[in-house]
Amino acid sequence: MTIKETLMELWRGSCDSSTSESDSGHLRIFDPIIEHNKVKRTISLVLKTKKPANVLLIGPPGTSKTLFLEIIHKAFGKESVFAQGYATTKAGLTDALFNNTPKYLCIDEIEEMSKADQAILLGFMGNGRVSETKRSSTRETNLKTWVFATCNDITKLKKQVFDRFIPIEIKPYTRAEFESIGLELLEREHIDPEIAKEAIRIVYEKRKQPSLRTVMQVAGIAENVKDVEDIVSTLK
Ligand SMILES: Nc1ncnc2c1ncn2[C@@H]1O[C@H](COP(=O)(O)OP(=O)(O)OP(=O)(O)O)[C@@H](O)[C@H]1O
Ligand SMILES: [Mg+2]
Repeated sequence: MTIKETLMELWRGSCDSSTSESDSGHLRIFDPIIEHNKVKRTISLVLKTKKPANVLLIGPPGTSKTLFLEIIHKAFGKESVFAQGYATTKAGLTDALFNNTPKYLCIDEIEEMSKADQAILLGFMGNGRVSETKRSSTRETNLKTWVFATCNDITKLKKQVFDRFIPIEIKPYTRAEFESIGLELLEREHIDPEIAKEAIRIVYEKRKQPSLRTVMQVAGIAENVKDVEDIVSTLK
């Protein structure tokens, strides 16, 4: 099953993967993610805590941070809200919290929120309280919400916001991980195994910052093994 098919199945709610566990102790919803077993287990534990806890996934590009959030969001449907840091304002986030009262709030690239907008998270992550005063009226609510966020660069994050998270580091892939994850992703896309191996090797050896996204793009357009090196040599 491809990642997309698995996510669609979760989205339709046709399986109860949001609560069932794999042999290695993580929730089955994370099965589409290759490797990262300890991260999957930690997040699975956090999803089961009685009191809200907040998780920040920190790591380099292309290491499945967003995929973790997308899976949580799809698995928990209306119980969750997904927000993009760069498009999230204090007012927008306040509205989403009041209107959706989410159990899970997923914020992708949280460092892209301005520091002023990050301020709403401070009070909220401390005690679940959200309040807003507009002209002469004030609205207030108390939520029980778990926040899951991703970040590439923690220096852009308010220190107090950072402090309210369990910071989980996703390390850059080793060559062996890059190869095994790349091979599985390309197999899911039905890419010829020889093209797949060559794309992984060439991207890893020739690119300054090897990315699985580049591997997928190159392997997706190459018609034969020789194309791979030619395509990569044209990249900036
Ligand atoms: N361990 C993995 N398992 C499954 N897919 C992966 C894995 N690592 C990377 N990918 C794939 O690589 C692509 C990039 O993943 P994703 O968007 O989640 O990365 P990211 O860590 O959020 O990167 P960025 O910091 O650039 O936003 C996706 O297509 C994703 O499916
Ligand atoms: Mg991302």
